[in-house]
Amino acid sequence: MAHIRKATSLGDWFDQRLATTKFWKVMVSEYWIPKNINFLWAMGVILMTLFILLFVSGLMLMMYYKPDANLAFDSVNYTIMQEVEYGWLWRHIHAIAASVTFLIIYIHTFTAIYYRSYKQGREMIWVSGILLFLIFSAEAFSGYMLPWGQMSYWAAQVITQLFGGIPVIGPAVVEWIRGDYAVSDPTLTRFFMLHVCLLPIVIIAVIAFHFYALRFPHVNNLEGEEIDFDLEADKYLEGKTAESKVIPFWPGFLSKDFFYVSIFMVFFFYLVGFNFNFAMDPINFDPANSLKTPPHIYPEWYFLWEYEILRGFFFDVGPMKAADIGLIAFAFAGVSLIFIPWFDRSDVVAPAHKNKAFFIWFWVLIIDLILLSVFGKLPADGITGGIDNTYIGFVLSILYIILLVVCLPLITIAERKRG
Ligand code: HEM
Repeated sequence: MAHIRKATSLGDWFDQRLATTKFWKVMVSEYWIPKNINFLWAMGVILMTLFILLFVSGLMLMMYYKPDANLAFDSVNYTIMQEVEYGWLWRHIHAIAASVTFLIIYIHTFTAIYYRSYKQGREMIWVSGILLFLIFSAEAFSGYMLPWGQMSYWAAQVITQLFGGIPVIGPAVVEWIRGDYAVSDPTLTRFFMLHVCLLPIVIIAVIAFHFYALRFPHVNNLEGEEIDFDLEADKYLEGKTAESKVIPFWPGFLSKDFFYVSIFMVFFFYLVGFNFNFAMDPINFDPANSLKTPPHIYPEWYFLWEYEILRGFFFDVGPMKAADIGLIAFAFAGVSLIFIPWFDRSDVVAPAHKNKAFFIWFWVLIIDLILLSVFGKLPADGITGGIDNTYIGFVLSILYIILLVVCLPLITIAERKRG
């Protein structure tokens, strides 16, 4: 056991027991960040801020929310929105933060793709990031059920039914997830448990892992330059701060991030105060009714691209039913992003504009995802420019898969061969 001497201060008392000074150095004051980055590197800290907002506003809502199929709708739409003081504010903060979290997650993810920050030692940052995206998706879906409105109910019906496509055990799995033959009270209570307990615990653990995974490879920079962090850190510590290519996480990096977080908060509270409806679907202001299917069921904007891939395959192939093919493509769309570090076959870490083919690939991918989202909101049986929406959805879905599993490897193999 370490030798314990009489503490000179409270800080010293903790230091002797928890090595707080060393911990602070390793994780914060001597955790080095390149200088050559821009506002896009603030997205991680904005995401952290949003998660804290979601957590605190969620605690406030939980004090009045009733996870019961007979009471849930009124507890949200009357008790919280009309009777509890500032209940409406907490609800708007929670709903807007959920929606904006996905916006920032997409920006953060595509920044990492643009600068190719997912490889050469950064694979675990990437994998834990995509895990966060998938768990946040489950968190958002389970939360959307809680107001027990028409869209909550029917989205739950459609999504839980997807598991019916699993061979042999599908129908049993659907019943197991719902806790009943149809979506009903037991489904609501178990999704409540997932939303307020199990998934947040997992999210906190994965965020901690994401931060830990960042510690050794360090974050990338605007040029993809390989920095000798030990050398640059020594320069900084010797006082040659202008000459050094790095700054400490605190105060250098985080204080700048607080500036970006403040600007973001102006935008955020503008939405909360004046534009909250964009995060609420009007159909969800009708209570859940198992006898009345809404004419057009669609998810929130951030799931539309995946939803369109699910609907994109409208024909049977041999013994495989269209719905099963769509389900496989949907599962692939969600999970495939994890493999990007390995679909990229080159060692080069550089911004997309340094390689013309990669640059074009990047923007075609973004346009494809935007178009998938646009068509995901339109009724599948509509017609656009004289072409059936189903055909357009099919082409866009196939394009997404080809871009990831064919184009990315080919472009990066060519880059490797050029040397
Ligand atoms: C709540 C979710 C998340 C939080 C709190 C978070 C937090 C952070 C923070 C603080 C950083 C360092 C600074 C920065 O580049 O912003 C970072 C970097 C990174 N994150 Fe996330 N992140 C989250 C989700 C994701 C997702 C969904 C991905 C997608 C794969 C991802 C991939 C990355 C990558 C690759 C880096 C390294 C960037 C670089 O080296 O330049 N993160 N994250």
